Amino acid sequence: MLINYEEYRMMYEAEEKLWWYRILHEKVLKEIQKRFHENKQIKILDAGCGTGGLMSFLIKHGYHNTQGFDYSPDAVSFCKERNLNVQQTDITNFDNVFVMETFDVIVNDDVVYQFDNLTITKIFHTFQLILKLDGIIITNNNAFNIFYGTHDIAVGGKQRFKLSDFKDIFLNLNLKIIYHTYWSLLLSPLILLVRLFQQLQLKLNLIDVNKIKSDVSVPSGFINTLFYRVVKFEERFFKKGFFGSSLFLVLRKKV
Ligand SMILES: C[S@@+](CC[C@H](N)C(=O)[O-])C[C@H]1O[C@@H](n2cnc3c(N)ncnc32)[C@H](O)[C@@H]1O
Repeated sequence: MLINYEEYRMMYEAEEKLWWYRILHEKVLKEIQKRFHENKQIKILDAGCGTGGLMSFLIKHGYHNTQGFDYSPDAVSFCKERNLNVQQTDITNFDNVFVMETFDVIVNDDVVYQFDNLTITKIFHTFQLILKLDGIIITNNNAFNIFYGTHDIAVGGKQRFKLSDFKDIFLNLNLKIIYHTYWSLLLSPLILLVRLFQQLQLKLNLIDVNKIKSDVSVPSGFINTLFYRVVKFEERFFKKGFFGSSLFLVLRKKV
């Protein structure tokens, strides 16, 4: 399911400010820098790039060889407003799109939650075909069913993941997980409280599902900065978080 225009507009406006996006983009950048050091010529693909916030961020950090795709014409047109190299492509059927191309980094953030495991396996199989031998795949996804809430409905979520789910998905692929972390541990109690309340409201039919919006909106400056700092603080102490509403993975080819 694709998200409606209003959600893409919210995403476009929030991407550079919202604590959650800032943390995610910085996590992606850190992994790229860790593995490719000063090399800014590497080829990066953002698969399911949304409105292009991550691509813009990477380009600002000197990674000009960055391209992306998304299936939504709205997402693609927001990317074009940012002058990004983006095309409209379906991630469930893109085997023939990048035939002669290989990438050093493929990013796939928060896209596969809307597919079943068979489709996810097919997607990662295609990633594997277009990934360089020493390349990496970075993928962030929503985690743990207990965090299910109205956001999942708004973005057409089919599932939330645990590390073991991805291990099963990658079992028959030539990919291995080289780093994983759940995040944010410290904000989990608060997020959990909100989501459990939403689950109760949904059960009691107190929410009109047609009017649900995603969590992609920027809170007050104080809260936004506070949440950002809490996660930054947590990152210093937990290199590998063991609980949180998101699961961040880095993959490599097995051979
Ligand atoms: C939650 S957004 C994440 C966007 C971006 N990766 C980010 O981190 O902000 C999910 C994205 O998946 C895209 N999408 C959904 N189905 C798709 C498909 N079949 N092929 C490519 N992109 C798809 C949506 O249009 C949307 O932009």
